[in-house]
Amino acid sequence: MSIPTKQQALAILTPQGAWGVITAGVDKPGPGEILVRVESTALNPIDWKVQATAYSAVLKEYPAILGSDSAGVVAAVGEGVTKFAVGDRVLHQGFFTNRLGTLKQYVIIYADIVTKIPENLTFDQAASVPLGLATAAIGLYNKRWESGGAELVAPWKEGGRGKYAGQPIFIAGGSSSVGQYVIQLAKLSGFSPIITTVSAHNNDLVKGLGATHPIDRKLSDEEIVAAVKKITPKPLKIVFDAISLKATQGFSVDVLSPGGKLVLVLNNALPKERITGDKDVWTTYGTVHGELNREFGAEMYSYITELLSSGDIKPNLTESLPGGLAAGIEGLRRLQNDEVSGRKLIVHPQETSG
Ligand SMILES: NC(=O)c1ccc[n+]([C@@H]2O[C@H](COP(=O)([O-])OP(=O)(O)OC[C@H]3O[C@@H](n4cnc5c(N)ncnc54)[C@H](OP(=O)(O)O)[C@@H]3O)[C@@H](O)[C@H]2O)c1
Repeated sequence: MSIPTKQQALAILTPQGAWGVITAGVDKPGPGEILVRVESTALNPIDWKVQATAYSAVLKEYPAILGSDSAGVVAAVGEGVTKFAVGDRVLHQGFFTNRLGTLKQYVIIYADIVTKIPENLTFDQAASVPLGLATAAIGLYNKRWESGGAELVAPWKEGGRGKYAGQPIFIAGGSSSVGQYVIQLAKLSGFSPIITTVSAHNNDLVKGLGATHPIDRKLSDEEIVAAVKKITPKPLKIVFDAISLKATQGFSVDVLSPGGKLVLVLNNALPKERITGDKDVWTTYGTVHGELNREFGAEMYSYITELLSSGDIKPNLTESLPGGLAAGIEGLRRLQNDEVSGRKLIVHPQETSG
């Protein structure tokens, strides 16, 4: 495969400044690394947040290339990489550096946290998996300190599949990308009933993934708590708030039973007095990059191809945005304005002109 020396990338041009398509160099894979030609990359809420809010503190260089989800083709492998060859279709998570961000045409990834895309998935579908699945899986299964997980036994571990049969779980925001993966993992773990809040038009979507009881997310906190109590008299030991806005954290902690665990995906905004009865509430960090989750991530990545090819884990529905990387700017505006429901927005870096 011929590899250009220059590429196009979607970047934040200055701290909290505008997005723009820039020309950047193409990195060479070092030992243990892979260079991927990105065919599909997904947009995520964190992208607009890093541009528009204090999350920008994670960025160290400008223009800053973001992007957390990549599906593409191996273009080159670094020294010591034996599991992958040029031409393999792969998916992986990106990170917040210009070398690892996926909103560009060629990206570097470490060989232990990448996996082959099974034949039953398109590049667009594959690009909907990495960040959402990692956040769901780390939050449920990784160690509590300091990795941010509920320490359940993952379904790919011995004895993990079906282990929590008969135990209820509540998931706020089941139609979100993260929520969809939490539902599916909860099903593999055996949880039942699987109760989740969604807009009514997404009831069938979440039921298709394994949710047993969708609840209308427009109900009041009290109505949601009452609806959950009506569905199951059993104590709710695990709650996953896949939205974690102030609007969802309140009823999420209220439905949790004493001694239970509440996994958040954004900062804890609950007043102390609302967290009663020894409830454990924390925020998970859904990246397989970095020390805390790397070992867990590498193990999970060794199972992802199988989970996807068997249909045990289904990708999110996707919406493909025509127009190459520049189309990401309007896509991110839609995400910021809550105009995306139950699907992942995908851009195609190779369609970028220039
Ligand atoms: N901690 C981490 O490492 C981490 C990792 C990934 C994501 N996140 C954060 O997690 C959140 C979700 O990310 P995502 O990519 O999964 O989002 P997403 O798919 O873009 O979210 C869109 C969905 O959110 C649902 N939603 C919005 N407000 C809701 C509410 N009040 N109750 C229930 N559902 C609601 C909508 O559901 P309906 O259309 O059905 O109404 C819609 O389907 C974001 O804030 C993101 O920044 C954190």
